Amino acid sequence: MKIQNLVTCSIMAGVLAACGGGASEEAEGSAASQTAEGDTANAAAGNGSMAQASDEAAAYDPASGPPKAFAQCSICHSAEPGKNMIGPSLAGIYGEKAGDVEGFNFSPAMMKSGLVWDDETLDAYIENPRKVVPGTRMSYAGMKNPEMRQQIIEYIKSL
Ligand code: HEC
Repeated sequence: MKIQNLVTCSIMAGVLAACGGGASEEAEGSAASQTAEGDTANAAAGNGSMAQASDEAAAYDPASGPPKAFAQCSICHSAEPGKNMIGPSLAGIYGEKAGDVEGFNFSPAMMKSGLVWDDETLDAYIENPRKVVPGTRMSYAGMKNPEMRQQIIEYIKSL
């Protein structure tokens, strides 16, 4: 019996890393084997799905508040309706005409731009304001990082 136990133990040790009778050790053992199964499942699913999983983890959710990159905008823009600062409030602008926020004194250039704010126009404007609206009063050089722009657009959409 003793020898049999030892053999079983050494076989199990490879899988469970723990061998003994204690309840807590058994619990550890099963946790370890679950982790091992999980790893195997991930490995079997391949790198593609693991990369996707990490993309999902990095995905930005507007419900969690403004993205970090918005700090560059919040110097001049609020997300509160009706609260204009150096720039107009960005609340509710998605889907609206450019230069149409009540109580804000826009540049003639912005008002005449004929733009409607959607994913495309916002992306282009945030990347290079003066190129998209020559003569805009927004003194901001532009945001080069497309992911950061995308997060800001998601945020503006949610306002
Ligand atoms: C230095 C201040 C300043 C900063 C920083 C700034 N803006 Fe602006 N923004 C303005 C001003 C001023 C206007 C009005 C421009 C005009 O009338 O030509 C404006 C206009 C806009 C508009 C057009 C609003 C409308 O209803 O037509 C959008 C969209 C916008 N900004 C987004 C952003 C985003 C996103 C950022 C950050 C990446 C940002 N701005 C950074 C000052 C700023």
